[in-house]
Amino acid sequence: MRARLRRSLTAKLLAAELLIVLAGSGTLLLVSLAIGPGIFRNHVHEVLKAIPADVAHHLDIAFAEATIVALGIGIAAAIATAIAVSAVVSVRIVRPIGSLAESAQRVAQGAYDTRVAITGDDELARLGSAFNQMAGALSSAESRRRSLLTDLAHELRTPLATIGGYVEGLADGVVRPEPATWAALQVEVSRLGRLVDDLNTVSRAEERQLDLRLVRVRPGALAEAAIRAAAPLYAAKGVVLAHDAAGGLPEVEVDLDRIGEVLGNLLENALRHTLAGGRVGVTERRSASGIELVVSDDGEGIAAEHVARVFERFYRADPARSRAGGGSGIGLTIARAITEAQGGRIHAESAGPGQGSTFTVWLPAAR
Ligand SMILES: Nc1ncnc2c1ncn2[C@@H]1O[C@H](COP(=O)(O)OP(=O)(O)OP(=O)(O)O)[C@@H](O)[C@H]1O
Ligand SMILES: [Mg+2]
Repeated sequence: MRARLRRSLTAKLLAAELLIVLAGSGTLLLVSLAIGPGIFRNHVHEVLKAIPADVAHHLDIAFAEATIVALGIGIAAAIATAIAVSAVVSVRIVRPIGSLAESAQRVAQGAYDTRVAITGDDELARLGSAFNQMAGALSSAESRRRSLLTDLAHELRTPLATIGGYVEGLADGVVRPEPATWAALQVEVSRLGRLVDDLNTVSRAEERQLDLRLVRVRPGALAEAAIRAAAPLYAAKGVVLAHDAAGGLPEVEVDLDRIGEVLGNLLENALRHTLAGGRVGVTERRSASGIELVVSDDGEGIAAEHVARVFERFYRADPARSRAGGGSGIGLTIARAITEAQGGRIHAESAGPGQGSTFTVWLPAAR
């Protein structure tokens, strides 16, 4: 109990206040008893000239008594005020700090949904809301981490099961060690390799750790390069890839390889989700304090409930089909992370299934 009292902020505050009261009243007492009677006697002397000894003695006693009584009442009032102030401070400051400390401890133990109640708008309220914000950020980071682990386990299961199946078959002699077998194994191994690379790129981009080599470039040049790279695959599938070039746009400052990766991902998706005979267009245009690169297709489109989520890790609108097609649902996550790492934004739009999709990359104009 005594140790707790010694550690308590309220007890310390009260002790400090009492010390002030004691120092003040002690000084007052000493000073008034040391020089007060002299001044008092001088004044009485000036008025009455000669004072009989017994009267002088009474006056001295009267002065001392009055001083002590006044001082006693003053000290009592000061102590009462000190206690009242300590009580108010305790309720207003010490208690919220205590509950903040308890909440911080709970968060440290993993209870990320802990929040503190906030009243008023003083520094303590700001501390409380900063604490709540921090707990919220920790909580969403934690849930992202959990879902990442679940998704990752899910993504690893399919290729690992396939590899396991082949290896078992080879061991039992059911599967023959021929080129087709090695090729199938190779596909799964490289799928795993790509997954690891992709995840690495996403985390590095999200942590702003990509080495970006920024150069100034015309937006049109970015579109042209991406179209040149994708053209053979488009020709092979029979999808038209057109560039609606625009002139007079401000230059942007980007890493050519990384932006190439973003546009490459968008063009790969557009091709995958557009039937032969369809059309994919790339356009650049001016937009508030920057430019937009737009990739739009007239393919299968995206249902409203999926549009907002296609940038999430491992998200696929149609999991079964996409996995068979080789996509791991991470291309757009990479595209977004890379775009944002260069100060840009990316978003998707679609009027719905069968209505085509449009992906827009906004980049700030170079200064
Ligand atoms: N142009 C598009 N048209 C229709 N749906 C699209 C289009 N682009 C993306 N999507 C949807 O968004 C999902 C996520 O795309 P993302 O590029 O992230 O993954 P993926 O293409 O499935 O796999 P990965 O790019 O990793 O190979 C796709 O699975 C698809 O359902
Ligand atoms: Mg993709």
